[in-house]
Amino acid sequence: MNYQVLARKWRPHNFTEVVGQEHVVKSLINALQNNRLHHAYLFTGTRGVGKTTIARILAKAINCENLQDFNPCGQCSVCQALDEGRFLDLIEVDAASRTKVEDTRDLLDNAQYAPNHGRYKVYLIDEVHMLSGHSFNALLKTLEEPPPHVKFLLATTDPHKIPVTVLSRCLQFNLKRLLPAQIATQMAFILQEEQLEFEEPALKLLSRAADGSMRDGLSLLDQAIVFGNGKVSSDAVSSMLGTVAHQPVEDILNALAAGDAPAMLDKINEIANLTPDFADVLQQMLQVFHRVALAQQIPSAIAQDVDAEMIAALASKLLPEDVQLYYQIGLLGQKDLDLAPDPRSGFEMVMLRMLTFRPATSLSSKTAKPAPSQQVISKPQTTQQHTSIPAAVKETLVASVSTTTADKSGVPAQETYKHSADNNWADMIALMSLAGPTRELANNCVLESIDDSACTLIVDPGYMRTTRSEDSLQKALQAYQGAPLKLIFKVAKPTVDTPAVQLVKQREDRQQAAVDAIAADDNIQALKEHFDARVMPGSIEPV
Ligand SMILES: Nc1ncnc2c1ncn2[C@@H]1O[C@H](COP(=O)(O)OP(=O)(O)O)[C@@H](O)[C@H]1O
Ligand SMILES: [Mg+2]
Ligand SMILES: [Zn+2]
Repeated sequence: MNYQVLARKWRPHNFTEVVGQEHVVKSLINALQNNRLHHAYLFTGTRGVGKTTIARILAKAINCENLQDFNPCGQCSVCQALDEGRFLDLIEVDAASRTKVEDTRDLLDNAQYAPNHGRYKVYLIDEVHMLSGHSFNALLKTLEEPPPHVKFLLATTDPHKIPVTVLSRCLQFNLKRLLPAQIATQMAFILQEEQLEFEEPALKLLSRAADGSMRDGLSLLDQAIVFGNGKVSSDAVSSMLGTVAHQPVEDILNALAAGDAPAMLDKINEIANLTPDFADVLQQMLQVFHRVALAQQIPSAIAQDVDAEMIAALASKLLPEDVQLYYQIGLLGQKDLDLAPDPRSGFEMVMLRMLTFRPATSLSSKTAKPAPSQQVISKPQTTQQHTSIPAAVKETLVASVSTTTADKSGVPAQETYKHSADNNWADMIALMSLAGPTRELANNCVLESIDDSACTLIVDPGYMRTTRSEDSLQKALQAYQGAPLKLIFKVAKPTVDTPAVQLVKQREDRQQAAVDAIAADDNIQALKEHFDARVMPGSIEPV
């Protein structure tokens, strides 16, 4: 059987059949209605949104012998010849395959001759940005003094590559990416016409994966039909998309989670060979971050998703606050992509920014490094720094936040507190090297008196003592005194601060000092100013 791909078979033949692009269709119909056609049109937009389709319909409408409501009739000899690709007055050039200057010049030389059959000679130059410089010059000459019986219809995905001299002589229409709902509706229509079974959710998945391109959507639909043996079911489509669509994104995110810059750049390099549209890839990343964040709060929210497993895995690998940060960086990075020298380097910078600005509290560093960095402001940890990170990124200062108080040896430091003249109980506790519940108990007491035979402690009535910790405190005090000692507890509200209360107060003071230091820091100020950064609430801890 001769299977014709859906995109080809279902190319719209008239304006009514075109999905979306109302702004373009309306203007063209208006121009036809008022007989005010421009001599050169340029259709721009991403792949598969209807540039070639609309240009061909316009070519037909310009010459149709029997316009129906300014739509080509589809019946007359012009329409039929054009639909079958044998209309002599339509000169279609695919610039991607025909860029030699002589070819274009020959074609354009013929422009001066009258049309064979129709009212107008129509030049449809597809992928016009691929023309060589010489060819553009030849085109420009003709555009400067167009013969009255000639129309130019140009189409491109990349208008930035077209010389302004040419651009300024064209009426430009920018076609929009199609919405998932528009694509899904068209799929349903086509499947009904083809008498193929389908499940609505499957079309949702496919139309989302089409990412604005009807052609991509219909190609995916072709694949799904083959994959599901003529039936488009959700299960089949899920497994089909799950494996093809998300792998590269997943790989990059895993490298990000591992803080592995070389692996990340490798994966980006791989993608560069597959999917040249980095804006799409970034979009996908954002969608994944969004769902990872959801999964971290409400795990059941993603249970039904095609890629629930991948999302769950990432949700366990990434800290919620990191996910928020990455999302924010990715979101703002979308803006950069257009401004970057090229989309790929723009994308790379966005991803490296995520790595660079990752707080030092990330899971991997927590488990891998017992002693977080000592400075309040530090450069990224060495494990995250790699020679392939551009120098500019390396230089960027990062607000890094430490998780535990630790000394340089990596061993958690004993929390120390100030002496108070009338109570050296705190010092005694330190010297006794108490641990766990015993230390807790001691910290919640105030020393009333101590002599050779007895020690009296005042303990807060709210504090729950255990016999075990009382015993071990008694033993520790005895060892400290070097003689048998009786331990007496008096339950009463202490009149001076217990070591526990002192600690809390000191912590609060140090916390405030750290917050003040961060607020006053020049580098933090600069980050706020230039990158729209903000200090995450609760992330500041004194070291
Ligand atoms: N706006 C649209 N409405 C309906 N079908 C469309 C539309 N845009 C693209 N298609 C489908 O995709 C195929 C390729 O579209 P085409 O116009 O060649 O895209 P491009 O914008 O890349 O030139 C068409 O044959 C048609 O099946
Ligand atoms: Mg095209
Ligand atoms: Zn016609």
